[in-house]
Amino acid sequence: MSERQSLKEYLKQYSQADASAWHAAGAIGAIAKACIQISYITADGALSASAGAACGTNAGGDVQKELDVRADAIIRSALTEAHVAILASEEADGPQTIDPSSRIGVAFDPLDGSSNIEVNMAVGTIFSIVPVPDDLRRTFRQSGTAQIAAGFVVYGPQTSLVLTLGKGVDIFALDRADGEFKLIRRNVRIPPDTAEFAINLSNRRHWDPVVRVFIDQCLAGEEGVLGKDFNMRWIGSLVAEAYRILTRGGLFLYPADARAGYSDGRLRLLYEAHPIAFIIEQAGGAASTGRARILDLAADTVHQRTPLIMGASDDVRFVENLYASPEPNDRAKAPLFAHRGFFRV
Ligand code: AHG
Ligand code: MN
Ligand code: MN
Repeated sequence: MSERQSLKEYLKQYSQADASAWHAAGAIGAIAKACIQISYITADGALSASAGAACGTNAGGDVQKELDVRADAIIRSALTEAHVAILASEEADGPQTIDPSSRIGVAFDPLDGSSNIEVNMAVGTIFSIVPVPDDLRRTFRQSGTAQIAAGFVVYGPQTSLVLTLGKGVDIFALDRADGEFKLIRRNVRIPPDTAEFAINLSNRRHWDPVVRVFIDQCLAGEEGVLGKDFNMRWIGSLVAEAYRILTRGGLFLYPADARAGYSDGRLRLLYEAHPIAFIIEQAGGAASTGRARILDLAADTVHQRTPLIMGASDDVRFVENLYASPEPNDRAKAPLFAHRGFFRV
């Protein structure tokens, strides 16, 4: 593994570009170091105190695990040492100002998929780095297109770091021999033509007609209008779903639904949808609410939610076309279905 480029070398090169690249490189290095610490804590499981235990509720109304709180403290303290103007975390009520002279802000989900901790499934950390506008208070009100960099770490069988600096997507793996992230895949592209979808099917009765029509056709397989058999996966960690899509394609949906509190879906715009959408687009895919591009949205509040449909661009465009159709049921029967690359055999 020693001939592989380390994240440190990679960031050193990037940091020369300008002041915000220098600040962003420092923040990414600090987050990566914090994530290595989190990876050892997650790997220790029950040996590391009661990391799977619930201990409160966060500002977004979700149950907090002890590990959510510890991961938040670890990343927050690492970023306090770096040159960062302002932070926003899933686990804090509002942003924290650190060093207003810095050019960047960081929004992060310290531990994504934390309901997976006690069942020994992949969890992760997500982060988004944005420029600081003239008015510091508007840092987290910019559209997703403003992002300078975004990344996520998956604590799975391997600890992987997926990173975009706005010029493609590169993947690093934690080399346990020396505790450094090493570059393992450069310029990752999402395979365009796969037949795999991910959605929490238990919510079917709450979905809108478009999602229901689309998923019913996926389930109909070769006998449906899509004309091909689909595989389904649902992991319950956005990071793991995104990693799979970057590796073997497919589509992930967390739509809005009719349950109380789900009118904008479940996922949070600033520290889940924005950074993941940036990465997916940089890998040639697409990310949408079904009606709008995720990166065109700007948050009004730190914990704002959004529907998220992401993956291979043909698949996402197809669902967007269904949303644009006055009668999705008819649209599902229309020949358009057969015309799109996604559905060509
Ligand atoms: P978090 O643990 O940070 O709250 O995020 C969990 C998210 C996401 O990772 C996953 O896709 C989704 O919640 C799962 O939600 P359901 O349990 O509603 O399926
Ligand atoms: Mn999350
Ligand atoms: Mn979380």
